[in-house]
Amino acid sequence: MVLVDLSTGELIAEPDTPATVLEPDSNEEALASAVGGNAGPIAIMFPSFADGRGFSLARILRDRLGFTGEIRAVGSLIPDQSQFLLRSGFDTAEIADPDAAETWRRTLTLIRHSYQPSARNPMPLRWNASTKAAAELDRALNATDDLAERIRLIAERIDGRIAFSTSVGLEDQVILQAIAKSGVVKAGADIDVFTLDTGRLFPEVLETIELSELRYRTRIRLVSPEAREVEELVRRDGVYGFRRSIENRKSCCEIRKVRPLNRALQGAQAWITGLRRDQSDARADVPMAEWDKERGLIKINPLADWSEERLNAYIDDNAVLVNPLHAQGFVSIGCAPCTRPIEPGEDPRAGRWWWEAEGMKECGMHVAESERPAAPVAQQEKAA
Ligand code: ADX
Ligand code: SF4
Repeated sequence: MVLVDLSTGELIAEPDTPATVLEPDSNEEALASAVGGNAGPIAIMFPSFADGRGFSLARILRDRLGFTGEIRAVGSLIPDQSQFLLRSGFDTAEIADPDAAETWRRTLTLIRHSYQPSARNPMPLRWNASTKAAAELDRALNATDDLAERIRLIAERIDGRIAFSTSVGLEDQVILQAIAKSGVVKAGADIDVFTLDTGRLFPEVLETIELSELRYRTRIRLVSPEAREVEELVRRDGVYGFRRSIENRKSCCEIRKVRPLNRALQGAQAWITGLRRDQSDARADVPMAEWDKERGLIKINPLADWSEERLNAYIDDNAVLVNPLHAQGFVSIGCAPCTRPIEPGEDPRAGRWWWEAEGMKECGMHVAESERPAAPVAQQEKAA
C-alpha cells in the first residue's frame, strides 16, 4: 500500500496517527462523531470503484461539518477517479499497486483547472479568471470609439448580472439611453439599473428618474440606506452634521451611499458607472474596465475617455433626457445640501462639497476601502 498526495501527485509517508475509517453507508451522525474533536485522518472506504457514495461523504465532511483535517480515500480506486477525489475534498488516496503510482501522478498533474466549483475551490473558474477578463474587456472597449459598440461588448462579455449605478447625472443619462437603444436587454442581458436614494436627493432627480423610466421603458431601482444607521448618524451628528467636519461628511456618505452601494452590487458580475477622466485629478487614470477586488466584480466606465465637450455634443445630437437642474448652472449633481450651481468656467466639481479642499471631494464609492473612514458610526457604537 502507498499513499498519494492528491494535490501534488507525489507519494508520501503514511502518518503515525491511525485513520478513523468510515464505511460508504455512514449516516450524518456517524460522520459528525468521526469529526468530533478529531484532527487526525478520516479514511473513507470505496468497496468498488463504481461506488460513488464516498465522494458525497467527503463533501459533507468539508462543507457541512467543516472538517479541515486529512480525508483519505481507501479501498478499490482507479487513477481516473483522482481528480474527482481531489475536488470532493480528499487529500490522499491509498493505492494497492505501487506500480500505478506514476499513472496517478500523471492524471493529477495533467489537468490543473476545473470550471465547476468544488470543495477545494467554491468559486467557479469564471470568477478566478476575472482579473484577466477585466483586462481583456478594457482592451476591447479601448479598441472602439463607438458607445453603442461598447455597450454591446459589455453585454456580450459579461455573463450574469450587470449593475448600473446612476446618479441621473449627464454621463449616466447618456449610458442609460445607449443601453435602452442598444436592445441588449431585450436580447437577454441582465442589466440592473439603480440609484442610491440617500434621502437627500433633489426632487428634480426623482422626477428625472420617473421621466426616464417612461421614455426608456425601464425600471430604475431606488436603493435606500439602512434606516437604523441613518437614525444613529443623525442622532450623533445632527441633521446637517456633515457640514461640521470631513470625518462627519465621510461618515454620512459611507452610510447613505457606500454601504447601500456595496449591498446593491452583491452578486453582480460587473458594475457600470459614468466616471470620466477629465472630471477631476483624482479620476485622471480611470480605466475603461478594471477588476474591483474589494467587490469581486469588473468595474466598467464606458465614458472614461470622453471629454466634457464630447459629452455635451452627444447629449445635444441624441436628445438625451437630462435633469432640468443642469439648465440652472448645476453640473455635477449629488445630494441637495452638498451641491450648488457653479459659475461658467469654474471647475465642474466646484459645486460639490464646496467647503472642502480640492482633492478630498470623493464620497467613497470610487475610493479603495483602505482610504475610507476606519470607524463608521453605527459599527463603532455597536462594538461599544
Ligand atoms: S460622487 O462620488 O462624486 O458622488 P459622481 O456624482 O461624480 O460621484 O458620479 C460618478 C458615478 O458614481 C456616477 O456615474 C454613478 O455611476 C455613481 N453615482 C454617484 N452617485 C450615485 C447615486 N446617488 N446613485 C447611484 N450611482 C451614483
Ligand atoms: Fe450625506 Fe452630503 Fe454625502 Fe449626501 S453627499 S451622503 S448628504 S454628506
